[in-house]
Amino acid sequence: MARTTVPQVIKAKGQRKLCMLTAYDSAMAFFVDQCEIDMILVGDSLAMAALGQVDTLSVTMEDMIHHTLAVSRVANQSLVIADMPFMSYQASVEQAVSNAGRMLKEGRAGAVKVEGGESIFPHIQGMVKAGIPVMGHLGLTPQSIAQLGGYKVQGRGSAGEKILQEAGRLEQAGCFSLVLEAVPPGLASRITSSLSIPTIGIGAGPDCDGQVLVINDLLGMNTKFTPRFVKKYADLAGIITEALHRYRREVQRGDFPDSSHCYKDD
Ligand code: KIV
Repeated sequence: MARTTVPQVIKAKGQRKLCMLTAYDSAMAFFVDQCEIDMILVGDSLAMAALGQVDTLSVTMEDMIHHTLAVSRVANQSLVIADMPFMSYQASVEQAVSNAGRMLKEGRAGAVKVEGGESIFPHIQGMVKAGIPVMGHLGLTPQSIAQLGGYKVQGRGSAGEKILQEAGRLEQAGCFSLVLEAVPPGLASRITSSLSIPTIGIGAGPDCDGQVLVINDLLGMNTKFTPRFVKKYADLAGIITEALHRYRREVQRGDFPDSSHCYKDD
């Protein structure tokens, strides 16, 4: 089966709900791809999910290309979208085009995602003109955490109007889709019906054209803070911990390996 394409994602709007999940390596991407998830986001949440960092700010282009390529190698069906790391596209249009190009050339991504509104419209236009599909991201944009002052809901009250307008401008700038993170469901619903490109929600209610979650959260592998919008579909933290304790106990007692795990002498 061929990989989902950007035109197919756009066409899905109003026809069916889109599914996106993050993945950061081949092992997990294999399962996501097998389960017919439309899009795999190699998010810069890589920082917390796989690199032991406290926020997304220190992720580098090299980190993102390395992990995007690992995901791309096994993604036969899902569209692979690479997050552009903090300060890899904000400084200039040239910087954005050149780094986004690397995500496609070296990471084999099918598209990139960038966070923010007005200040990056020309950057998005530049990338799209260069033939690079771009997904936008509005609402809670974790790369702006220093400005936002914390991981809080965005777009309540009059602030919602600015996000609504920026969403329209992102579509005009050429984005093929838009992530809405941590915004009230009513605002997400208005944005979704005002756009002809699909919205993908995370903490943005049920009316978006699709949903995304961080895979570690969905699988219950995140032992730290879990945001309200996360639904845990499994408790892998419990399963992994139990398995590792059993392994340690069996090795210490000499129960593992037994004869069934040993080669014959001759
Ligand atoms: O980096 C990421 O995982 C993301 C999603 C939360 C949308 O940007």
